[in-house]
Amino acid sequence: MFPQPNRLPRSHNAGTAGLTTLFKALAAQALGLALALILAWMSPALFHGSWRLALAQGAGATLWSGVLRQPYWWLPIHLLFLPMAIAMLTLQLPSWLYLVAVLLLALVFWGTVKGDVPLFLSSNAVADAVAAIVEREHANVFADLGAGVGSVAAPLAQQPAVKVDAWERAPLPWLVTAWRCRKLPNASVKRASLWDCDLARYDVVFAFLSPAVMAELGEKVEREMRSGSLFISSSFPVPDWQPESVVQLEDRGRTQLFCYRL
Ligand SMILES: C[S@@+](CC[C@H](N)C(=O)[O-])C[C@H]1O[C@@H](n2cnc3c(N)ncnc32)[C@H](O)[C@@H]1O
Repeated sequence: MFPQPNRLPRSHNAGTAGLTTLFKALAAQALGLALALILAWMSPALFHGSWRLALAQGAGATLWSGVLRQPYWWLPIHLLFLPMAIAMLTLQLPSWLYLVAVLLLALVFWGTVKGDVPLFLSSNAVADAVAAIVEREHANVFADLGAGVGSVAAPLAQQPAVKVDAWERAPLPWLVTAWRCRKLPNASVKRASLWDCDLARYDVVFAFLSPAVMAELGEKVEREMRSGSLFISSSFPVPDWQPESVVQLEDRGRTQLFCYRL
């Protein structure tokens, strides 16, 4: 088993985490605006015009987002939010386009505002490496926690001997994965939270999530996965755990797969 010094019990609380995330995002935007207005007041010539002010607000909001320790994917959102809003206004697009855009974003990034990990796609190299590990393990039952659009789960389910469960909470990625797996009877695509998944059923579990959830996921893995089964985390190690092996891939992101034997 893995050395796990000084780890305190934690519990998943999406509601509180979500409120904190939302509060931090709004606070970063408001503080960025305050910073931009102070700069404009101190140096009216330099910050003349809405574009400069918007860029200063974006930079300020990004800075505050870092200070408030928001996950890194919030940084470009804060940087571009107001400048993009102004750019869109100048284009004078029909108002229904905004509604469609918001709906699409909500369907893809469903729980992100509540603290869920947003959608990033694994490369083909990751899918190939995971398939090779599953084959080497002679695994019968596999889970992808947060399957996205099925970049790993769908190719793996082409192997009829492996039962693949893809867990995905966001509606649009779930729909894409379900469509990709529609003719694969060994694939089951569940629109459900990975936190509700009973990991005891699986020989190999794969996750590509975020550093923010790895400690909590590690606790779930340790609590539920059977002895001898394998947990693979793409890109993000479980804090304080010693992997059995680390697979270094030569894809564009030089992805590492951290493999933990239970
Ligand atoms: C970084 S993406 C990885 C997608 C896919 N596994 C891959 O490797 O390409 C993380 C995915 O996890 C999903 N996700 C985040 N939190 C989740 C949760 N609590 N339950 C189910 N899915 C979740 C997101 O919607 C997103 O699609």
